[in-house]
Amino acid sequence: GNKNIQAKLVLLGDMGTGKTSLVLRFVKGQFFDFQESTIGAAFFTQVLSLNEVTVKFDIWDTAGQERYHSLAPMYYRGAAAAVVVYDITSSDSFERAKKWVRELQRQGNPNLITFLVANKVDLEDRRKVGNEEGEQYAKDNGLTFLETSAKTAQNVNELFYEIAKRLAKA
Ligand code: GTP
Repeated sequence: GNKNIQAKLVLLGDMGTGKTSLVLRFVKGQFFDFQESTIGAAFFTQVLSLNEVTVKFDIWDTAGQERYHSLAPMYYRGAAAAVVVYDITSSDSFERAKKWVRELQRQGNPNLITFLVANKVDLEDRRKVGNEEGEQYAKDNGLTFLETSAKTAQNVNELFYEIAKRLAKA
């Protein structure tokens, strides 16, 4: 029969990596070239239907600015899935993503489904972090890796769909 799942999903990552943009692309099909920086965190919901399972996502889009770092545990605590985002044009954002992964490994839910997302792949000419670099790090740390663009929508629905599939199997 049909199964309904409600799942808390958290997005983490450096400021400006595109967390809000990924969520807005998924939830509203919108993208803004001048997306405002998130203050604290923002909350969204979206429902995704797979064949036999309906997943209702409760999405916490956290603020990447360092001054909000201490709030993050409130959002990843109890989360079923986490999306750690970096920007392929910023090596610093990749380093920051690794810090988030380590924090989640130490303090997150042990069964947390974690995705590593390399965003802004439309900016290929400004790329600083190679695809293989992200992929290898993900592999070494048991994460699922995807390259996305919130701007062109590349892999955005796929990201949430893959998460939903993993939740449905869990
Ligand atoms: P904080 O709220 O400060 O943590 O930032 P954020 O990670 O939520 O990033 P946000 O979605 O606000 O995007 C930051 C900037 O990057 C905005 O100007 C977006 O338009 C831009 N941006 C986001 N995703 C993409 C993308 O895939 N490609 C391009 N070219 N720009 C993007």
